[in-house]
Amino acid sequence: MAEVLQKVVEESRQGEAYAPFAGDPNEFKKKFYIESYGCQMNFSDSEIVASILHAEGFGATRNFEDADLVLLNTCSIREKAEQTVRNRLHAFRKVKENNPGMLIGVLGCMAERLKAKFLEEEKLVDIVVGPDAYRSLPGLITEAEGGQKSVNVLLSRDETYADISPVRLDSNGVTAFVSIMRGCNNMCTFCVVPFTRGRERSRDAESIVSECRDLFNRGFREVTLLGQNVDSYFHTSSDGNDVNFANLLERVALIDPLLRIRFSTSHPKDITDDVLHTMAKYHNICKYIHLPVQSGNTRILNLMNRTYTREWYLNKVKRIREVMPDCGLSTDVISGFCTETEEDHQDTLSVMELSRFDMAYMFSYSERPGTLAARRYEDDIPEDVKKRRLIEIINLQNGHSRESYKSDIGKTFEVLIEGSSKKSDKDWSGRNSQNKMVVFAKNDQLLNKGDYVNVKVTNATSATLLGEIV
Ligand code: SAH
Ligand code: SF4
Ligand code: F3S
Repeated sequence: MAEVLQKVVEESRQGEAYAPFAGDPNEFKKKFYIESYGCQMNFSDSEIVASILHAEGFGATRNFEDADLVLLNTCSIREKAEQTVRNRLHAFRKVKENNPGMLIGVLGCMAERLKAKFLEEEKLVDIVVGPDAYRSLPGLITEAEGGQKSVNVLLSRDETYADISPVRLDSNGVTAFVSIMRGCNNMCTFCVVPFTRGRERSRDAESIVSECRDLFNRGFREVTLLGQNVDSYFHTSSDGNDVNFANLLERVALIDPLLRIRFSTSHPKDITDDVLHTMAKYHNICKYIHLPVQSGNTRILNLMNRTYTREWYLNKVKRIREVMPDCGLSTDVISGFCTETEEDHQDTLSVMELSRFDMAYMFSYSERPGTLAARRYEDDIPEDVKKRRLIEIINLQNGHSRESYKSDIGKTFEVLIEGSSKKSDKDWSGRNSQNKMVVFAKNDQLLNKGDYVNVKVTNATSATLLGEIV
């Protein structure tokens, strides 16, 4: 693709994000438009879908009005995420009325959750494809072009799309996502992911390393290895060698010292000392861990089937800081899970107080049909109580974030330049190893995105460090 422009409006990493993009539509016979919602995995999947469509002669467009095929890659994690998608579909309806030949396809987790029901509920949808069925898209498009509604929501035990080389969408040319596994075998009772993404399976290590090497050779300087639970990555290669997540991290780190490695998401029950020591050993493995706690109360954690206790979580945090005193730490928190009392909620606040996260994604519990919690427990916390507890959680975290960022004033960090700052093209922006955004004035030094530069922090907000090149 000649050119890929970027427009990402991100409300939250795992929430409701929206990303149209454009390529050079003149290169191709037909045009497609894709918007992605949900987690990084979904964004990464859209790049696989773009690759499959490319091979079929579809070029990307940023205007859905111009598209022959409009795709929504959807998320089911909370009710609000699904509502956003439905609203978007209603916006497409108007356009389709004037352009009946336009096909509308729904991909991703909501497609998987609702299956053919989607076609009954949203009559204008022509194609429904689940996360493991993207290879069948060309056939489904042909059927839909012939006037037949088409659905494939089969989940697979072994699909990893390992051989498909993703077309990088919305790319800054510096950072990229690389999916290392699919699905999830944990049965957190609140979570719809095991139902929408199926069984956990790991992608062949060789194909991961070669995708990362290829990205490096094309000028990329940072890869984020993606999985719902990266610590349970395990693959036996064709030569009979077992590769666990620590081994995989090491292999990717050895590609080049100038290639940074990040990963998401770690599970508190699974993250090993082995992984922590590998992180500590390699300068280019970023010192940052996203470690979702969900709740600080052991009884609630048990109802959530998280399989760790409050003490286990706090011990993990302690261990991370022992091995890597400078490690950045973030988390996910849910307020108002079934039966949560005020005391349980206080336990969540105190776990936050003890862990001192640099950043957090915070949600109120949203019951998802079909999950274990929906079947077993009553969603008994009133909406206003959930919201009030969430606000308390957010306020506490805002204070912690502000303190964490302020405490960096005076420190010098190595920053990977990702591009000009959004606010001013007189400034660069990039992140430090701890995943904090750093903005600093361009000086007369000849620098480019993809370069590393040392920046001394002179000021901070609760989400950005401001500094100057040293
Ligand atoms: N695999 C990752 C997270 C996947 S979902 C992990 O295990 O951490 C991302 C986050 O969304 C979760 O960590 C959780 O905090 C939140 N979430 C998931 N289901 C939810 C629900 N039903 N209601 C509210 N928040 C939810
Ligand atoms: Fe959902 Fe739990 Fe799997 Fe994360 S680990 S995707 S929260 S079931
Ligand atoms: Fe959403 Fe599916 Fe990701 S439910 S958070 S898009 S795995």
